[in-house]
Amino acid sequence: MSIPEQLNSSSRHSRQAALDPEDDARERLIVALDVPSASAAIGLIDQLESRCRWFKVGLELFVQAGPSILNVLAARGHSVFLDLKFHDIPNTVAGAVRSAADCGVRMMTVHALGGPAMLSAARDALARVANPPELLAVTVLTSMDGAQLSAVGLSDRASEQVERLAKVGLEAGIRGFVCSPQEVGLLRALAGTDAVLVIPGIRPVGTGVGDQKRVATPADALGQGASFLVVGRPITQAPDPAEAADRILQEMAAGLRSMTI
Ligand code: C5P
Repeated sequence: MSIPEQLNSSSRHSRQAALDPEDDARERLIVALDVPSASAAIGLIDQLESRCRWFKVGLELFVQAGPSILNVLAARGHSVFLDLKFHDIPNTVAGAVRSAADCGVRMMTVHALGGPAMLSAARDALARVANPPELLAVTVLTSMDGAQLSAVGLSDRASEQVERLAKVGLEAGIRGFVCSPQEVGLLRALAGTDAVLVIPGIRPVGTGVGDQKRVATPADALGQGASFLVVGRPITQAPDPAEAADRILQEMAAGLRSMTI
C-alpha cells in the first residue's frame, strides 16, 4: 500500500468500515521517543511495539543517536515519523528533505513559518522520490499560547495564525499538517477530508501538561478530526509505559466507537 493510501485509510473521514476501533486506535497512535539515547529508545520500543506501529524520532534522540535509530525502527517493521521541523532557506530544506526520505521515514516535518518558497521547495524535493513520505507542515507549536506568540511579534490568536499558515501550506501543495488539538476542527474544515492531521499536545485526564499549553484528551482530539495522535511523556515517563499506552489506546478506541454511533 502506498503511504498516502496507508495514511488515508486510517484517517477519520475515510476510515475503513472493517477496521474495529481497537485496531484503528493502534494505527493512529504515534509514540514520541523523546529520550536521550538509542538504548533508552530501544527499551521503550521493546515494551510498546506490540501495541502500536508508529514511532516518532525527534531532535533529542536524532541528535544523539543519528540515522541508525531510524534503521533500527524500520528493520523491526515500524513506521517512522522523523520530526526535525526543518526551517531554513529553500535549497537547504529541499536537501534535508531528500536526505530524510533516503532514510526510509514515512512522515517528516517542516515549519510552515519557513514560508511559501521553502514549503514549495520541500514539496518539489519529494515529488522526485519514489514512494515518498508524507510531508507535514508544523503550524503553531502546541507549547505556544497568546503570551508566547505576542513575545515574538505575532499578535493574532493561535487559531488565526494556524489558519494563516495552513493556507500557505495548502497553496504550496502540502496536504499534511501538525497543529494543537484546539485547532484540529478548524484545520479539518479548511484542508478537507483527505488532509493528514497529526496532533500533539495530547493529555489524558489526570496527566500533567508539562510545557504544553494547547492540549486536549485523546478522544476529544479524534472527535475534532485528528488523523493521528502524538503522545510522548504521558507514555514514556509513566511508571509503566505499556500500561499507560493501553489506557490511552482504550480512550482512543472509546472515542472512535462513539464517532461511529
Ligand atoms: O511529551 P509530549 O506528549 O508533550 O510530546 C509531544 C511531542 O510532539 C514532542 O515530541 C514534541 O516535539 C512534538 N510536537 C509538539 N508540538 C508541535 C509539533 C510537535 O509538541 N507543534
